[in-house]
Amino acid sequence: MTHLPFYTDIAKSDRAAYSSSDSNKPLLRVVVCGAGDSGKAALIGQLLGTSEEALQAHYRYVDCGTRRVLITATAVQDTFTDALISSKSSADIAVVMIDARNGVLPQTRWDAVLLSQLGIKNIVLGINTLDLNGYKKSAFDKIESDFNALARDLNFSSVTALPIAAFKGGNITTKATEIPWFTGQTLLAALENIQLDQTAQEKPFRMIVDSATESGATGRIVSGTIAPDDKVKLLPSIKESSVSEIKAGDDLLGSATTGQSVTLSFANPLKISTGEIISAASHPCEISDQFRATIFWMSDNELLPGRTYTMKLGAMTAQATIAQPRHAIDIDTMDERAARTLEKNDIGVCHLNLDRQIAFDPFVENRDTGRFTITDLLTNETVGVGLIDFALRRAANIHMQALDIDKHARSELKGQRPAILWFTGLSGSGKSTIANALEQKLHAMGHHTAILDGDNVRHGLNQDLGFTDADRVENIRRVSEVGKLMVEAGLIVLVSFISPFRSERKMARQMMEDGEFVEIHVDTPLEIAEQRDVKGLYAKARSGELKNFTGIDSPYEAPQNPEIRLATTNQSPEEAADELLIFLKENKYIRP
Ligand code: ADX
Repeated sequence: MTHLPFYTDIAKSDRAAYSSSDSNKPLLRVVVCGAGDSGKAALIGQLLGTSEEALQAHYRYVDCGTRRVLITATAVQDTFTDALISSKSSADIAVVMIDARNGVLPQTRWDAVLLSQLGIKNIVLGINTLDLNGYKKSAFDKIESDFNALARDLNFSSVTALPIAAFKGGNITTKATEIPWFTGQTLLAALENIQLDQTAQEKPFRMIVDSATESGATGRIVSGTIAPDDKVKLLPSIKESSVSEIKAGDDLLGSATTGQSVTLSFANPLKISTGEIISAASHPCEISDQFRATIFWMSDNELLPGRTYTMKLGAMTAQATIAQPRHAIDIDTMDERAARTLEKNDIGVCHLNLDRQIAFDPFVENRDTGRFTITDLLTNETVGVGLIDFALRRAANIHMQALDIDKHARSELKGQRPAILWFTGLSGSGKSTIANALEQKLHAMGHHTAILDGDNVRHGLNQDLGFTDADRVENIRRVSEVGKLMVEAGLIVLVSFISPFRSERKMARQMMEDGEFVEIHVDTPLEIAEQRDVKGLYAKARSGELKNFTGIDSPYEAPQNPEIRLATTNQSPEEAADELLIFLKENKYIRP
């Protein structure tokens, strides 16, 4: 295997690469993608070299004439989607590897749609393993025209097809002599010559703060350039200043540009937080906590509208609730279609509600500050990626009212510490019976309580909800909000819902202040709850008459660290209520 002779490896030191004059050359970001056996791995090997270091870094700068090319790639076994989504920054050009033996596959349409949606306008088709076909021009031409046909509606600015021998290194840096009919350019020449609309470097300045001290902020410049005395705005904290000094490590720089990691110092002392975006004061990014976004769903588990997911944009993390899709996009026609959820490989347009303001740009304006990932709250698995269409202005017009009488004042008057006592467990586990017994005791002691019971709330506020996963998520979201309002009123709130999912219980906990959420697992084994079958529902579920019944054909995720676990098999409801009373006294929710 031959390797490119002119790598500038920044894996070890960003500084070395940037203090060289190369940093004045425009930066071109290239991502290599393709199916597992398309030659992607071999090409990446050719481009990155096979040194441990380079392979671990997954990216390299390659000097190619008038441009510096940043090649990103991810581990070979990653799927096409993962590779694109997780690449460090948005690419200007995608090299799509196609195995000439297989040609354009049905999956290629999805790949092309994804590239186009991700705003990658220029495609290099790397047509590999032509040698196994005797280097036939007809095979090459067919792949090129098949790809152009399937990408006709995708608005790419350029599609450049090149024969590439990824394993032998042919037509990457030097022309492959075995293919006399091919008079076009090598891969590197193509990367140098493709006309780009606007590079990240030409856009307004944006730097994502990875760490900050009192004297400055360190982070990665994702667009634009910066020089001392430039005025900047920090968002979402809305602070303004001007740059006094730019450093890369210990080196003072006269300016810095896209792709560089630098430390900026400011003219006046600022309190800067990790995750903020430093932007050009003349073209600041926006802030909001509600968005419309186009979402690519990547998880085997479908999107659960109403569920809280973790959203990460730049270095900023927020909790986001994703509403039911407005519509999904049909991959074949690019038309809108109705959708209630998103399944793996679906693209949909959704509204998101965040727990805090974040700084962003619409994706069409800046692909690095307009793109976010969505991860599962519990497993941290990346389940999707989103592109911000725009902020929803409705949030801006609803202002939180400052109220004079607060939770503290209300609860003081009642002589208690308000909290949600969250009873979770199977149907028939005894949640309602125990909650009822406890409420009686609290009431007799002069405490102010309220009870929210699944069966009852489902007759009123939640009468529109059934027992699908999505409906249960919404059920718990609503009751959490109501419970929170009641805690604001100073009450001790007994919530008794099966609440089968850890994610929603975690969400409910996160909505409350420390100590305000007491999770009580009413831990009755399924066999016993089923034996009791007070409402006759288990029998119906077993006979198939009742679908999605918890414990039978719908999951129950038991709490891992509840504040209290009640083993109801050797405890009466009265005894369980007494145990809870002791807990409430010991933890000073109520008077001793
Ligand atoms: S939750 O899962 O969404 O938290 P919730 O506590 O509100 O459930 O409602 C559960 C009650 O609804 C059960 O006690 C039972 O009486 C009734 N029910 C009716 N159908 C189902 C079902 N498919 N699964 C569980 N409970 C059901």
